[in-house]
Amino acid sequence: MPSMKAVRIHAYDGADVLAYEDAPRPTAGDGEVLIRVHAASVNPFDCAVRAGHMSAYLNYTLPVILGVDVSGIVEEVGAGVTTFKRGDSVYARGGVTRDGAYAQYAVVPASDVATKPKSLDHIHSAAIPHAVLTAWQALFGLANLTKGQTVLIHGAAGGVGHLAVQLAKWRGAKVIGTASRNLDFVRGIGVDEAIDYSTTPFENVVSNVDVVLDTVGGDTQQRSWQVLKPGGILVSTIQAPSEETAKAHGVRGAFVFSAPPIGETLTEVAGLVDSGQIKPEVSAVLPLQEIRKAHQMVEAGHTRGKIVLQVA
Ligand SMILES: NC(=O)c1ccc[n+]([C@@H]2O[C@H](COP(=O)([O-])OP(=O)(O)OC[C@H]3O[C@@H](n4cnc5c(N)ncnc54)[C@H](OP(=O)(O)O)[C@@H]3O)[C@@H](O)[C@H]2O)c1
Repeated sequence: MPSMKAVRIHAYDGADVLAYEDAPRPTAGDGEVLIRVHAASVNPFDCAVRAGHMSAYLNYTLPVILGVDVSGIVEEVGAGVTTFKRGDSVYARGGVTRDGAYAQYAVVPASDVATKPKSLDHIHSAAIPHAVLTAWQALFGLANLTKGQTVLIHGAAGGVGHLAVQLAKWRGAKVIGTASRNLDFVRGIGVDEAIDYSTTPFENVVSNVDVVLDTVGGDTQQRSWQVLKPGGILVSTIQAPSEETAKAHGVRGAFVFSAPPIGETLTEVAGLVDSGQIKPEVSAVLPLQEIRKAHQMVEAGHTRGKIVLQVA
């Protein structure tokens, strides 16, 4: 069986369990696309899987290749795939519980693949999928953000946050964003009001917002209820909001998990990128072999935009 280089985990634990090694090269099954990976990005989700935090909710068979974000070239398509052909430049959100993109080749259902933005290289395209699908589902799928509304985005400089800021601006909303060391960056991507969460309790300066996007959780989520206007909504990517607390404040709460249609949404996002509405930020590029360092950087909690693995 042909092999490839990949990063797999054989057990759950710290970054040391990430093993750069030979693994069987996959093939495309029915309805699937085999992608020759040029770049993959690192998400906090990958770190949570590696640490074993997701195994109570999702089924994994070890060893497994991590990584849900990929940009690359179609190598082969499985039976029934008519939307892509060998040689196409694509980006995709790969399988959440199957082998992923920290590898030379990755298989993704064709429905979760899209033509990559023409104006971006693979490194920047790989930074987009999981984060933008989450931001899209939170702001548009759950919160129904509309022109003229105000949204408070916690973690505005992070992977999800920096794309959420740009999507919300595109939709015509007023955006308030929180950050600390990345404050200048969030101003640069268009927030109307930037709050340094390390010096200013946001609830002292924010009130009456329509939507809160919470990518931080804990105390930040708790203090967010009071800044919503009646009928507003708090959407969290990290911690399911309490229905009781939401009711007590006369607002709604929702938990986001990026949802289909993945391919269609990524196609629309590619259009927004190519028309200059959205620009992904890549703050570090590491070779696949340096995956342990990449996980440690993400787990430090201060990533500006995304950290991307260069594969090809
Ligand atoms: N439910 C889902 O489907 C889903 C999907 C994607 C992500 N997530 C989760 O959502 C969370 C965020 O993901 P991500 O990819 O955006 O993470 P990330 O890129 O690692 O976020 C890093 C950012 O968080 C900011 N930050 C740290 N502490 C903060 C605080 N107390 N207040 C405001 N900002 C703070 C940092 O800003 P400074 O450096 O300026 O401090 C940094 O820019 C993660 O827990 C992830 O697992 C869930």
